[in-house]
Amino acid sequence: MENKKLIFSGIQPTGTFTLGNYIGAIRNWGPLQDEYNCIYCVVDMHAITVKQGPVKLRQSTMNSYALLMACGIDPEKSILFIQSHVKTHAELSWVLGCNTQFGELSRMTQFKDKSQRHPDDINSGLFTYPVLMAADILAYNADLVPVGVDQKQHLELARNIAQRFNQRYGDFFTLPEPYIPKVGAKVMSLQDPTKKMSKSDDNPNAVILILDDKDTIIRKFKRAVTDSEAEICYREGKDGINNLMTIYSSVTGKDFAAIESEFAGKGYGDFKLAVGEAVADHLEPVRTEFARISQDKAFLKKCYTEGAEKALRYSQRIVSKVYRKVGFVDKT
Ligand code: TYM
Repeated sequence: MENKKLIFSGIQPTGTFTLGNYIGAIRNWGPLQDEYNCIYCVVDMHAITVKQGPVKLRQSTMNSYALLMACGIDPEKSILFIQSHVKTHAELSWVLGCNTQFGELSRMTQFKDKSQRHPDDINSGLFTYPVLMAADILAYNADLVPVGVDQKQHLELARNIAQRFNQRYGDFFTLPEPYIPKVGAKVMSLQDPTKKMSKSDDNPNAVILILDDKDTIIRKFKRAVTDSEAEICYREGKDGINNLMTIYSSVTGKDFAAIESEFAGKGYGDFKLAVGEAVADHLEPVRTEFARISQDKAFLKKCYTEGAEKALRYSQRIVSKVYRKVGFVDKT
């Protein structure tokens, strides 16, 4: 690989990606490919921390892989692979886990949220999830990690783990920096704009899926919860409108001032329709490209097989050095 900074990011293959995943993370991944060495991963091992049907998981992993390609991740430019195909992630995760404190993991808000949502299955994978995430990143010594704001705490933990390892065994890991977009780092639910838009929301109207058709997208935006005023402006307390303005700004490139003047004197109905249309038009090429790529199973297989080979080759060198540093006996 060329001598450029290294980017790593991952996404869970649960269902179709949401507009939150897209604006907060994926849409930024494509443009980074020209400036950096990029490694992107469908994290199926993370997904099984909550119960998954095997048939569905396999299907959604394949779809997620194809969908990343449809969103502009080019396996010729980036290393694009499926996490469970590359054994170094699990291997490094064990070593890092032995350098992570119980107390640190107990403070993770996502663990607390998820264990509240799944009280019947608070498994240890859910608890050590951030260690595997740190391993994903550190197995490549990534410099930058493009994510939405909800992953910031996990990333800080990854930095702490790396730092602790470096202190204990000598400088080795790069401390990864978060790369969080200025606008759209936290896209909110359309039904409760104080909550993050999330794949696991029970209300389908709260979430735009990036493969939703135009009519569905517009219908969901028309039903979006706003406020009882009639002014389209970005202001504290106007969570619903702020969220719609953020989304509109992300897909059109217009800033908030331009949006305010575009809709001055207009009603929420007009604005919601405009946001719905802009989002649907923006996502149209993704839908078309997904329909094409997802048919070509042989091509997808070739891409993910080659991606895994490259990822293994890269991370193996790093993980072998880690094994040596902690005192494991050389195999060869
Ligand atoms: P995941 O699969 O939940 O989400 C993938 C990416 O989408 C971002 N995101 C959002 N951004 C803005 N608004 C939202 N409503 C929204 N919802 C999700 C997330 O911040 C994320 O960037 N643990 C990670 C996956 C992971 C990972 C990694 C990421 C595993 N290993 C290593 C980076 C590096 C996760 O569950 O993301």
